[in-house]
Amino acid sequence: MDGNQKNETPGIVKAVNSMTETQTYTIIDGRKISQDIKKEISEKVAMRKQEGKKVPHLAIILVGDDGASQTYVDHKVKACKEVGFHYTMMRFADTISEDKLMKHIDQVNRDEDVDGFIVQLPLPLNISVERITEKIRPDKDVDGFTNRNFGSIVSKNPLLLPATPFGVMELLKRYNIPTEGKNCVVVGASRLVGAPLSMMLVEEGKATVTICHKFTKDLGMFTRHADILITAVGKPGLITADMVKEGAVVIDVGTTRVEGPQYKSGFALKGDVEFKEVAPKTSYITPVPGGVGPMTIASLLLNTLRATELRNP
Ligand code: GUN
Repeated sequence: MDGNQKNETPGIVKAVNSMTETQTYTIIDGRKISQDIKKEISEKVAMRKQEGKKVPHLAIILVGDDGASQTYVDHKVKACKEVGFHYTMMRFADTISEDKLMKHIDQVNRDEDVDGFIVQLPLPLNISVERITEKIRPDKDVDGFTNRNFGSIVSKNPLLLPATPFGVMELLKRYNIPTEGKNCVVVGASRLVGAPLSMMLVEEGKATVTICHKFTKDLGMFTRHADILITAVGKPGLITADMVKEGAVVIDVGTTRVEGPQYKSGFALKGDVEFKEVAPKTSYITPVPGGVGPMTIASLLLNTLRATELRNP
């Protein structure tokens, strides 16, 4: 933390500038919210066990030996253990063919004991993410990646919501940050985050939403108008202080592994936002790591519980 900042209440930082004005901003604690959600889920699982109902079962398919994917999957397994879910890890070499992987997905689709499953991305280049994703049964698609679940955002009763956007909406709700009528700018129009999140902000959040992407000219012209600025690009340093309105809420979904000898583990996780210079201008901001990241796993667990409840009420 900078020398001119004092942290008196956890999560709330007082920034005093040279004009002796005092601004405060809250660092949104995704780890704490995800712990709260996991506690709520484990209570529901304990209740289901007591009532003799089926315990949620998540299967995870991992192809290849990408280090980052392995770490994410380890976190998912740990989260399953924490809340009392059953889980199955299925690993395949990166030489597996698309057809063979499709057959395994078919098997998991038909396995009555598995309530939800995910295929960890990225996949080897010879395998089509779209074909694999679309093979997943929508009512077991706990990542919310299928076209059916993307489309269900605009239905009255969504099936399983895309996990990361769901996590962002949950963070806003649990910090009592209103979205209705707000000017939201989403930077990044990806199929898995930016696009579904924009629709959820419109449908559920009743916000006015602008979607920016790599072809947007003069990004700052849009971001400076945002009451709520959400960035999901994966480009460290993209959002600087001059691009953010005073008092804005800033949600950073970008998570990039930056390697360097100065980092103990050999790498650091960086968001899209220049946190140090942007934070003092905001009212609320998510850090990276510890902001949106833990919420993706919390949403995955919520979706798995919902998938179980739908199949085995
Ligand atoms: N790779 C990076 N993030 C994710 C995620 O949320 N789900 C899956 N399946 N793969 C990922």
